[in-house]
Amino acid sequence: MTILRMGHPLLNCRSEEVLDFNSPDLDGIVEQLLEYRDRFEGAGLAAPQLGIAKRIICFGGKTKRYPEAGASPVRILINPIIEPLSDEIESGWEGCLSVPGLRGLVDRFEYIRYTGFDVAGNQISAEASGFEARVLQHEVDHLDGILFPKRIKDFAHFGFEEELVI
Ligand code: NI
Repeated sequence: MTILRMGHPLLNCRSEEVLDFNSPDLDGIVEQLLEYRDRFEGAGLAAPQLGIAKRIICFGGKTKRYPEAGASPVRILINPIIEPLSDEIESGWEGCLSVPGLRGLVDRFEYIRYTGFDVAGNQISAEASGFEARVLQHEVDHLDGILFPKRIKDFAHFGFEEELVI
């Protein structure tokens, strides 16, 4: 059981849309994603981090790594699309299971609408703000081959968790 780390070429690729819903293949990927999320306690996880180049993410749920995440249930979102609801930007610290031990300060939209599908192919549409909106933007970035260090504006605010003054 392993999660790909920064440097693996697959993490730099755009992942493909899911076309078949209600399939054993898709169920298998989703099951794996949820299992890894639980084991490694990410605030979210994207299929390409497991070496699967499909547009599938999970987010939410309790995690020790991010106590601010609250107690929302873990959710799956397929072929997600994010649209900002305002120009408001918030700076916040991010980490990533594919960039272990490091954190960086990243700007994200504070308010977003996200749409996509569940495993059965039902459409999902909802709004998110703050930490949840940040996680969604981070995970959707994975589907486009973008890791959070690419979003850092000031590398004075990037480094090892143990060294940073947050
Ligand atoms: Ni990540």
